[in-house]
Amino acid sequence: MTPDEKQTPTNKNAENRSEGNRHALCHIDSLEEGQSRGFVIKRENIADNVDFELFVVRYQNTVYAYRNRCPHLGIQLEWQPDQFLDADGCLIQCAMHGALFLIESGACIAGPCSGQALEKIECSIKDNHVEVWLA
Ligand code: FES
Repeated sequence: MTPDEKQTPTNKNAENRSEGNRHALCHIDSLEEGQSRGFVIKRENIADNVDFELFVVRYQNTVYAYRNRCPHLGIQLEWQPDQFLDADGCLIQCAMHGALFLIESGACIAGPCSGQALEKIECSIKDNHVEVWLA
């Protein structure tokens, strides 16, 4: 989904507002080009009441969203808060064993889970806010 920076923000206090399975995460201006950010969504309506952890990446003026779970061991990917990318900022990297994933598809191209992929999450930009849709 391509961010439209020409639209006028309509709600600057929209952090973590949610509506059904649609969740507004942040204003697009708080996610700069080449930046990643992690989020936790409280899912109180789910039987196991487990928080859903995900992250978004703005790359080449497109925003991508993935579940924050490495396909290798099922653990979180970041090495520091909001740090999901490799040193060049061109790939997603798991901090534990260094698996590398394409930002555009989530496909693992190197590491112990090569050939597998991150769980992609439907993502869009609405009213200048990054939104995700959870199943
Ligand atoms: S846990 Fe991610 S590469 Fe091993």
